[in-house]
Amino acid sequence: MKILVATEKPFAPVAIEGIRRVADEAGHELALLEKYTSAEELYAAVADADALIVRSDKVTAEVLAHAPKLKIVVRAGAGYDNVDLEAASKLGIVVENTPGQNSNAVAELVFGMLIMAVRNMYAGTSGSELLGKTLGIHAFGQVGRNVARIAQGFGMEVSAFDPYCPDEVMEKAGVRPIHDLPALYSENKFVSLHIPATPETRRSVGFDLITRLPQGGVLINTARKEVIDEEGLKKALAERPDLKYVADIAPDNAAELTAEFPGRVFFTPKKMGAQTSEANINAGIAAARQIAAFFLNGDTRFQVNK
Ligand code: 3PG
Repeated sequence: MKILVATEKPFAPVAIEGIRRVADEAGHELALLEKYTSAEELYAAVADADALIVRSDKVTAEVLAHAPKLKIVVRAGAGYDNVDLEAASKLGIVVENTPGQNSNAVAELVFGMLIMAVRNMYAGTSGSELLGKTLGIHAFGQVGRNVARIAQGFGMEVSAFDPYCPDEVMEKAGVRPIHDLPALYSENKFVSLHIPATPETRRSVGFDLITRLPQGGVLINTARKEVIDEEGLKKALAERPDLKYVADIAPDNAAELTAEFPGRVFFTPKKMGAQTSEANINAGIAAARQIAAFFLNGDTRFQVNK
């Protein structure tokens, strides 16, 4: 079988070596398409692929239509909002993700960005510390749990909102469950977003929630830009000069926000959360192993389009 790794943002070379080893051992061929700049390049590359490994690369109905042999797509990572699940299902193509494999990398970046924000973007002025401060985690999945663990190391008070996670799971992790979303924002100085982009969550964090943050509040977004109501965010930053917004996925109005609110917003130029060798190795090799297991015995444990 031919496995294509198509990544606009490539894995670390050491991760590719690992993926190649797994493919070789399972008797599959590996092809690479890295740093491509047009959908046409992807269309051409998928033409003879039996399996596809991607990151945030868009796997649209058009991409699938160009891949007559494709049986499985694995998103090496957590969020699979970049894959057209409906189109894949119609074609009988299995779609999987690799949950948890890159979550520590994303969680560590939360603190990289939070410290930058509370130290006034390293402008040389007096900032503040994390010790003893409150942190609210919006969605207690794999990344949220790692964020909680690290926050406790900083001596922070951690609470979380997640209607899909039982209280006991949070309590066992030393995290206070909050059952009311607005309360998560009003009771925590810092809030870290970890909700996936779905029709329900799109633009769900806007003016009303953001302005609930206490004085000096910071909203950290390492999830998806789509979950933010960008107009609401802009209005909140305008009305509350004490608030800051730092994100690993720049909003569409990033240039405007940067110009209007200097020193209060920060955006990575490219999504960096999962961009570590460790996360690349973990997620990339997990993806290759999942594909090998699928071809060996039909294993679809991580399927997300059931
Ligand atoms: C994920 O959903 O796994 C993260 O957002 C990382 O995405 P990336 O693989 O595009 O860096």
